[in-house]
Amino acid sequence: MDDTDPILALKIELKKAQTLGGSMSIVTTYKEHTEKMLSSKRDIDTIVKFKDYVIVGMFGVGPDVASATFVSVPKGISVYPNDGKDIDSLVAISIERLSMLRIDPEIRWVWKAIKDSPSLEEKESPEARFVYKPFYQFYAFLASHPQDLGQFLSRMGGKEQMFVEDYLPYGLISTLKKYKPDTNKLSCNFIEKWEYQDKIQKKIINGIETLRRFRNIEHLFTLPSISRQIIDIARDPLLCASKMAQVIEKDPVLTSRILKVVNSAFYGFHRKVNSIEHAIVILGNDEVMNLAFSIAIYRIMKNISPKEAQMLWEHSLMVAHLSQWIGHIIGCKEKDLLYTTGLLHDLGKIVFFQQGEPTGTVDRTSSLDDLALEEKEAGLSHAEMGAYIVDRWNLPEDIVNGLMTHHVPHRSTHMSLSIAIHLADIIAHNGGIDIDNINSGAMRYMEGKEINLISNDTISKAYEDIKVRIKIILEN
Ligand SMILES: [Fe+2]
Ligand SMILES: [Fe+2]
Repeated sequence: MDDTDPILALKIELKKAQTLGGSMSIVTTYKEHTEKMLSSKRDIDTIVKFKDYVIVGMFGVGPDVASATFVSVPKGISVYPNDGKDIDSLVAISIERLSMLRIDPEIRWVWKAIKDSPSLEEKESPEARFVYKPFYQFYAFLASHPQDLGQFLSRMGGKEQMFVEDYLPYGLISTLKKYKPDTNKLSCNFIEKWEYQDKIQKKIINGIETLRRFRNIEHLFTLPSISRQIIDIARDPLLCASKMAQVIEKDPVLTSRILKVVNSAFYGFHRKVNSIEHAIVILGNDEVMNLAFSIAIYRIMKNISPKEAQMLWEHSLMVAHLSQWIGHIIGCKEKDLLYTTGLLHDLGKIVFFQQGEPTGTVDRTSSLDDLALEEKEAGLSHAEMGAYIVDRWNLPEDIVNGLMTHHVPHRSTHMSLSIAIHLADIIAHNGGIDIDNINSGAMRYMEGKEINLISNDTISKAYEDIKVRIKIILEN
């Protein structure tokens, strides 16, 4: 154990409870109540300071006694083993319960509903992580009631307010600042009437059913073998050009398309490039691999109408290239990861197109309403659907997570990657940055960062340059 760990003493206390058997209560309050806390503290308890909190561990004590001991102090209590088995989660729960006290009692239930996952038996199923969060219908509903939303957020305050805001578009949040909370009219009836609990339960059941129904679509859930091999070799830095060429050349159609692109006027080589190996020597591994992967992936898109397939492919290529450019600016250096995630980001739309389900069209950024509509029909949006597909393909977790969070990048475990894809998606549709449509959580992340210094002219220029580049791929 690390002796600089601020909650080490609590860990030791918990070990005791685990070894001897028995309960333990964790009581958390704010630092400013330290003195009051100490005055009511019994001799045998463990007390630590952690961030803005003071936390007491009470061995062999249940929540009632713990609560009675610190009667005059605002507190959050969690209990081992009922609330959790390790100290980190017990502390987190007690802090969460403490912060709930700050929230207006009338709307506390809404926050609880937002934070707590509904308890369903399927929670442990492989589909669960793709349908539990986010809940686009709720955020689209909030966005459609700006006046009420403004009131609701101002009553919530603190990190809870930030949590909700981060799901919403930046343009909407800026508008809300105009509404002054009217303390006489505050009411959360609008959410109550909407039946949050009921709707989220329905969404989850619907989403799991959708994934179970679709998981047997063979051609979609099996990654074309050539793409699989390309991904595998792209990940191997020690592989030589001739080995890579061998893999690609096994597929003559793919090979001839790559050579056509490489020999196009865009690249301007004087001598004809006759082999993949030669192309790799001239253009480099990454460029040829990305090209090969893009063309191979197009075969999956061909399962929808030609017009939609063409538009989706063009958009995907645009986002792949733009993601690499933005990723570089916002500090994500993994070029291959950016390209692949960008290329695949809207993969889930294919399922919606095939099933004739509603999906935001390919020619504009999916709005909250578009995502909510997909979710209403299928229980999940194209973002989680795409993530589920690439998870079945066994692609790296960063790609799965990147697809899942491309419309809510603040929920990502790889923020710079997801934000790059999110921004690239918006630029690809608008030819420039459309601040109002950027997710507020992403804007918060970018505050003070270099990306804010990039002029619209620079963005438009990058967009036009990439457009020329991908035109060559599209035409050949
Ligand atoms: Fe999307
Ligand atoms: Fe997109």
